[in-house]
Amino acid sequence: MCGIVGYIGNREATPILLSGLKRLEYRGYDSAGLALLEDLPRAVSTNGHSSSLINSTRLVIEKCKGKVTDLETLSARSPHHSTIGIGHTRWATHGIPSDTNSHPHTDQQERLAIIHNGIVENYSHIKDRLLARGHTFRSETDTEVLAHLIGEFYAEKQNLTEAVRLALNEVVGAYGIAVVAADSPNEIVCARKGSPLVIGVGNDNDYFIASDAAAIIAHTRQVIYLSDNEMATVSRSGIKTRTISNIEITKQVEVVEMELEAIEKGGFDHFMLKEIHEQPQTITDAMRGRVIEEEGNIVLGGLQNHLDALRQAKRLIITACGTSFHAGLIGKYMIEQYARVPVEIEYASEFRYRNPIVNDDDVMFGISQSGETADTLAAMREGKRKGALALGIVNVVGSTIARESDGGVYIHAGPEIGVASTKAFTSQLTVLSLLTIMLGRMRHLSVVDGRSMIRELLEVPEKAQSILDDTESKIEEMAQIFKDAANFLYLGRGYNYPVALEGALKLKEISYIHAEGYPAAEMKHGPIALIDENMPVVVVAPQDDVYEKVLSNIQEVRARKGHVIAIATEGDEQIKKLAEQVIFIPQTLPLFTPILSVIPLQLLSYYIATARGCNVDQPRNLAKSVTVE
Ligand code: AGP
Ligand code: GLU
Repeated sequence: MCGIVGYIGNREATPILLSGLKRLEYRGYDSAGLALLEDLPRAVSTNGHSSSLINSTRLVIEKCKGKVTDLETLSARSPHHSTIGIGHTRWATHGIPSDTNSHPHTDQQERLAIIHNGIVENYSHIKDRLLARGHTFRSETDTEVLAHLIGEFYAEKQNLTEAVRLALNEVVGAYGIAVVAADSPNEIVCARKGSPLVIGVGNDNDYFIASDAAAIIAHTRQVIYLSDNEMATVSRSGIKTRTISNIEITKQVEVVEMELEAIEKGGFDHFMLKEIHEQPQTITDAMRGRVIEEEGNIVLGGLQNHLDALRQAKRLIITACGTSFHAGLIGKYMIEQYARVPVEIEYASEFRYRNPIVNDDDVMFGISQSGETADTLAAMREGKRKGALALGIVNVVGSTIARESDGGVYIHAGPEIGVASTKAFTSQLTVLSLLTIMLGRMRHLSVVDGRSMIRELLEVPEKAQSILDDTESKIEEMAQIFKDAANFLYLGRGYNYPVALEGALKLKEISYIHAEGYPAAEMKHGPIALIDENMPVVVVAPQDDVYEKVLSNIQEVRARKGHVIAIATEGDEQIKKLAEQVIFIPQTLPLFTPILSVIPLQLLSYYIATARGCNVDQPRNLAKSVTVE
């Protein structure tokens, strides 16, 4: 999620690190920092009379909340000369954006510094162990815990590579890291698992490290890509690579052909497409460290102080806008089915002005990607004022909704740049699925059922990947057939009715085609009048409890010559006979189908919009966060 840059060579490190960080800043990070190893010539007395100069190295950390230019100003105030250093732009996951939580983080002895991209899932477990051994922590981050753990091994082994390696063997989670230490002044140790890391090979015995080649291509296009569970020790004389289980490996140097803009978009044409493709990863990230499979249960750190209120709640109220509202609607269906608590869901803009009934034992959830949506914020404040416990399901750590909530859950989707929300939606659904299991387990859901739901959920990321792999080219072709349609209808039932709403919203936002989403059975109460041979109708029809009913709705569309595009479960032969176009998704439990069924709809909107020449990342009239009423 964050940006990593490192440099070791013969040039001044600070400008290289700062310009690299600026290249990564487009994703909207919240803080930045540097760690430099500064050479200090020091006079030592040799025989009591004369003295000579020796070099000692000092670890210098500069970091602050805000933009890279803020860091630049800070750094310019007291320049440090160094030819080795690491730099970071943070996108907070653990602890609000603040000077203290910014990276780099140091170990207990302040001998080494680390920058980290990702999430250490078992950090609280490791932290407790280190606290018992007398460690003190300054920040709220998971990263600082890793710094202290490496520090422990470093004190023991006096070898930075080995210390990092041993520490990483204890880490559960995702990381791209770079580490420097004052008494190992000629090396940077880096490693990756689940977060990208690339090493640039320069021309003058200099080397670069980055989370994204964009940060270093101004200096070199010769790179080595680390794979998961690999680490490297980078010095001025070369790079040594090994696996985290200590098997030495040889890596190929590759040449980056892409231009800067393409690299920033991960090689995709648009951020929206990149974000659609990130979903297998972001769905996984939303579950990290939260699942206790053997107990069939879920732990959500930000709700731990409110477990009694959640157990005793007579009613939940969900409030949100746009895509987040659609996620909330699915959340209502899930929670009511498995936890048997009544859930009311309301557009935040309506809730705030209609004098809603709120009781003291109501628990309110505000769902927001940005955490800044004015209507959602106002609805949460109104709910709180009337006595409800207000909890947030938010992406941006430290955003206003996150700060004003009594507690909540971060969805950990990473920065979403495309104005049309995609990966945030599936991460919201993943968190709502976790919440459903947790609330269910507090009530009537058995261990066995909780466990089997968790097992299914853990398989969802892989299934999402298979949808991307198997359906994208077909959807791109389909977009050519339907790109000139003036209207679209989206139908779904049960869990997939809100998916129909979301599919329609995505299409209108980025392609400007008029689209409506409906519960499939409502069609006959009006919208059926619209159907003729010019009307494409997207029907979300996985094999769930309402499948047979949806088939009848498809028949009704066909009878009026509408073109049916069905989203169906793999192996469904029956639907092939009814629909003109079928996109298959893998089987899963009905409550998790929306996480999968929405992906083809995101792709369909994307390819129709690009076929029409629309600006998909910044559609007309829309803003990423709507901070006005
Ligand atoms: C989604 O594609 C939209 N751009 C929009 O509906 C969005 O979901 C809505 O404005 C809510 O935003 P939030 O999740 O940041 O609160
Ligand atoms: N989990 C770390 C933190 O919250 C790293 C976040 C990032 O990837 O920027 O500080």
